[in-house]
Amino acid sequence: MEKINRRRFVGASAAVLGAAGLRLPMWTQVVGGNPASPTVPLLLGVDYYPDQTPESLWEEDAHKISEAGLTNVRIAEFAWALMEPAEGKFDFAWLQRSVDILHRSNIGVILGTPSAAPPPWLTMKYPDVVEVNDKGEKLRPGGRRFTCPTNATYRRLSLAVATEMARKFAGHPGVIGWQIDNEFTLGSSPRCFCDYCRAGFQGWVRSKYGTLEKVNQTWGTNFWSQRYTDWAQIPVPLPSGADPNPGLALDYNRYQSFANATFLAEQLSMLRKLCPKHFVTTNNIGAPYDVIDDRELYAKLDFVAFDNYPGFFDMLLHQGGQTGTLLSDVIPATIAMQHDFGRSILRKPFLIMEEQSGKAGQPTFSPQPEPGQVRLWSYQGVAHGAMGINYFRWDTATFGAEEYWHGMLNHDRSQSPAFEEILWTVKELKSLGPEFLNSGYEADSALYFDYDCSWATKIQPGHFRLSYTEQATKWYGAASPSHTGIDLVGPGSDLSPYKIVFAPVVYVISESQADKIRQYVKTGGVFVTSFRLGVKTESSQIVRKPLPGFLADVMGVTLEDYVPTYAQNPYVKFGSMLAGADAECGIWADILKPSSAEVLASYSSGQHSGKAAITLNKFGNGTAVYVGADLRAADLARVLATFVGSAGVKRPIEVPTGVELTVRKSAQKRWLCLLNHKSEPQTINLDGSFNDAITGQAHRGATEIPGYGVLVLVAAGA
Ligand code: GAL
Repeated sequence: MEKINRRRFVGASAAVLGAAGLRLPMWTQVVGGNPASPTVPLLLGVDYYPDQTPESLWEEDAHKISEAGLTNVRIAEFAWALMEPAEGKFDFAWLQRSVDILHRSNIGVILGTPSAAPPPWLTMKYPDVVEVNDKGEKLRPGGRRFTCPTNATYRRLSLAVATEMARKFAGHPGVIGWQIDNEFTLGSSPRCFCDYCRAGFQGWVRSKYGTLEKVNQTWGTNFWSQRYTDWAQIPVPLPSGADPNPGLALDYNRYQSFANATFLAEQLSMLRKLCPKHFVTTNNIGAPYDVIDDRELYAKLDFVAFDNYPGFFDMLLHQGGQTGTLLSDVIPATIAMQHDFGRSILRKPFLIMEEQSGKAGQPTFSPQPEPGQVRLWSYQGVAHGAMGINYFRWDTATFGAEEYWHGMLNHDRSQSPAFEEILWTVKELKSLGPEFLNSGYEADSALYFDYDCSWATKIQPGHFRLSYTEQATKWYGAASPSHTGIDLVGPGSDLSPYKIVFAPVVYVISESQADKIRQYVKTGGVFVTSFRLGVKTESSQIVRKPLPGFLADVMGVTLEDYVPTYAQNPYVKFGSMLAGADAECGIWADILKPSSAEVLASYSSGQHSGKAAITLNKFGNGTAVYVGADLRAADLARVLATFVGSAGVKRPIEVPTGVELTVRKSAQKRWLCLLNHKSEPQTINLDGSFNDAITGQAHRGATEIPGYGVLVLVAAGA
């Protein structure tokens, strides 16, 4: 691809957008684009459902979407029944009319392939495509996401309809890209256990291990007489009178992720051939959710695209019995973590494919976002590296299971409460321009997030309340007030760019993954980890070494014992480096015996009183910290902040609790994004003179951020 001069391109594209909105050749630059380059265009759009809207309203919708300043829509991802009303009989005339109308209004179209919801004729004729859940029960057609990822018939039919779509729209000037399927594995039953999956799993195991002897060894099948003497004997982990073999169960998670990723890959290679000028992505959600390995899912796509529903999340937490000011406390960090994952997977700007725009919910409503919150959530996305946002959805459905999921228009097509706010936000984001939306993200630290650890912890949590995803979220939340900028890394990642890596519950680790960490610490990195470190090898067998296994030398400790705690939780007393009030330990206490490490905190009650709870080891040029006690979030935040400081991470400015700070940077500029997640105004103290990139206003010294307000600051003169 021709090299693009950065300045010229930014200038030209801004001018084009400013003058006339979308120009289609821009979109084609996405394919194969350089992560750091400004070749990814502005995508500020809406999810739209012409298939659910009377055709008499399509023109009006297109005009209004365009008048609203939106540049694109995503359509058709659930419209299989209309596109293929009977097997092999395709009807794209309606879709063509819709795309034509949208194109005439300068709206670029992202087409969704429809395999998340097959039509009734298909499931009637091919009942075997329907998924079997983890109790061995076959799901029933009628909802969505109820099909098997392995089933060859379903793959063939999904590819066929997607191929016909691609043939029809490859040359349409209104189409800019594709979303394959929607939310792989995000149904009520994220895993399929049918006979097709069983056969697929057997094949996958065979190509992974080669011989049955290797399988038997790896899974430890001498236990409970599970030795396999024929590939066809290998089961899937359905209820079987007792818990499954942990090695088999972990491999089954890996297989299900693989099955979904290869399902996507079939459509992807077709789209690459037929639509080489279009970008291709899929839509899902990221960490801390763990039902599919997103790193595998997005590996070959042009960029990551995720949902973002903070209010829906709020409702779910309430449903789960949680109380308190969730929107301003827990949720911003969880959403930030998801955004950071979205950016980290391909190390490029990502798209929010669905952004909450009103009350969300299926049978029940989430709260109506307060004025300012939809804008704040949009800015939170771009502050963490989103290059664009599609608001969900244009109009609100008057039929179907999502009648309660509000869009930009109400049921009667009047404007929703956040309508004007969205228009205002889109206008602002456009004025910030492609340079800002495609800029890099400053991150000195990383959170280690590993699906194997999550899946293996789910199979054998060790404590009924130990959840990997909860611990990862807690650690992310505890690290984030230090505002260091956090990337999410995994076992294969290069850790060298980071001053500090946070790694909770690294329960599963291979020798070679441990070597990467050893090398990172040796060469000066700061590695802060927790209880349950190094317990299992990658085959999910317990390591035959004193814990923490492969990393004992790096941590400078071995474990005297590991203690799940249920009642009378021990307390932890901090030494001078971590000084603070004694803290109650939560659900777990690793009892540490230093070999070379220094003790920073000890248990102060219970049978292990006086023994080490937190240690620090100097290893090579770096530092390895073992937090053996499960600390409550506030105590953990204080402890992590100490290590962030000693790792030499500098905060750009100090901000009060509830204000989030991220830094985006291009070759020429550095933007401080300040987000106030509280409803009341908060004051920050600026060191130096800044201009607000949104309003142009100059700021210095004490500066107020309104409730749910946002500042995007650039140093004056930059
Ligand atoms: C998303 C999904 C959409 C729609 C939306 C609101 O998770 O991708 O199809 O269902 O939620 O429910």
